Amino acid sequence: MTESNLADIWHRITDLDVVSGAGSWVTAADGTEYLDFTAGIAVTSTGHCHPHVVRAVQDQAARFLHAQPNVYRHDLLEPLAGRLADLVPGAIDTFFFANSGAEAVEAAIKLAKQTTGRPNVIVFEGSFHGRTHLAMAMTTSKILYRAGYAPLPSGVFVAPFPDRRRGLGREPDAVVDDCLDGLKSVLQTQTAPKETAAVVLEPVLGEGGYIPCPKRFLRGVAEICRERGVPFVADEVQTGFGRTGAMFAVEHFDIEPDIIVLGKGMGSGFPISAIGAPRSRMQQWPVGSHGGTYGGNPMGCAAALATLDILTQPGFLERVRQLGSRLTRSLSAMQHGDPRIVDVRGPGLMIGVEFADPADAQQVQAHCLDHDRLILMTAGPTNSVIRWMPPLVVSEADIELATQAFGCALTETR
Ligand SMILES: Cc1ncc(COP(=O)(O)O)c(C=O)c1O
Repeated sequence: MTESNLADIWHRITDLDVVSGAGSWVTAADGTEYLDFTAGIAVTSTGHCHPHVVRAVQDQAARFLHAQPNVYRHDLLEPLAGRLADLVPGAIDTFFFANSGAEAVEAAIKLAKQTTGRPNVIVFEGSFHGRTHLAMAMTTSKILYRAGYAPLPSGVFVAPFPDRRRGLGREPDAVVDDCLDGLKSVLQTQTAPKETAAVVLEPVLGEGGYIPCPKRFLRGVAEICRERGVPFVADEVQTGFGRTGAMFAVEHFDIEPDIIVLGKGMGSGFPISAIGAPRSRMQQWPVGSHGGTYGGNPMGCAAALATLDILTQPGFLERVRQLGSRLTRSLSAMQHGDPRIVDVRGPGLMIGVEFADPADAQQVQAHCLDHDRLILMTAGPTNSVIRWMPPLVVSEADIELATQAFGCALTETR
């Protein structure tokens, strides 16, 4: 056998070699089809190769593959920023484009540092913000993501998050109060507001285990930030673009972040990410102090505009909410018959099914793949949570197939 020329660094959840994808399905090299409920890790929200997105990318490829924004402005930059401004809640109306979530997180912190003149950042236990050095230092969802990479950038402080483990046997409100006190304490004892450039939070912890922020918690965090004059940054890389049944998850909480971070589902699989802030803040970012060769490239913008055409169709998000409620109900019903499952949670099509023992979650995941060709992923510090993140365009029939496969896997691994 010939040695592979590929690095082994990717942790693979399947051993599949795939050649094409359409909607919720991918086809392996041997012709077998698999139901892909990972959506490329919450990316292909419009499904694999949605014809409208493919056409937009093909048309764009014939006009411009690359038009570098430092050199000139291509004709999709303003339309994309304009559409995002209409969709993002609150006063956010100005956007900077990059290529990946981690790059956008880095950009958000650079913007916050420059516009406050402060050095530090506060994040929350269990968060995931990316793989670059600062984003990695902001990430505490799994030790594997950090171990062996010291020294990590300094100036990152971690506040408590009201997860299930912390809440066991306690009143949910008391847990939220404790965690809000924890944030206040970090601001009192570790990094004062005048040294804190940003507090960064995912409205639903993604890699950390699909854990929605309790409403009182996220609103409390935003309030603490407002009272102390610290910018509040919402990392919506995974929750954005309809994943939770709202265009952006902050809408569920009626709050307006000072900076929003976007990626993943934005381009239906074409790499594009963004940060948004009110013009008054963006204007204070010294020209030339940040940038990037490919950010805002026309191919990514074409993919994003075409994606938005689909997500903003009348009734689209309503359908996501309905499918999500139905899927959550089916999964909750399975929980009642199975003591291995300790929680089913999540808004829209961002649903976590937590097992008491990670080995059970992984066995069920493997059974779904091996017996029913259903691809599912896990999340959480010990991979004890099976996360449901199908494409937002998933059919009811495919949801039915997947839930049946999951039910069979539960029965046969018992
Ligand atoms: C909330 C959040 N932020 C940032 C990132 C990093 O995005 P990327 O992998 O595109 O760099 C992710 C990726 O999973 C994420 O879920």
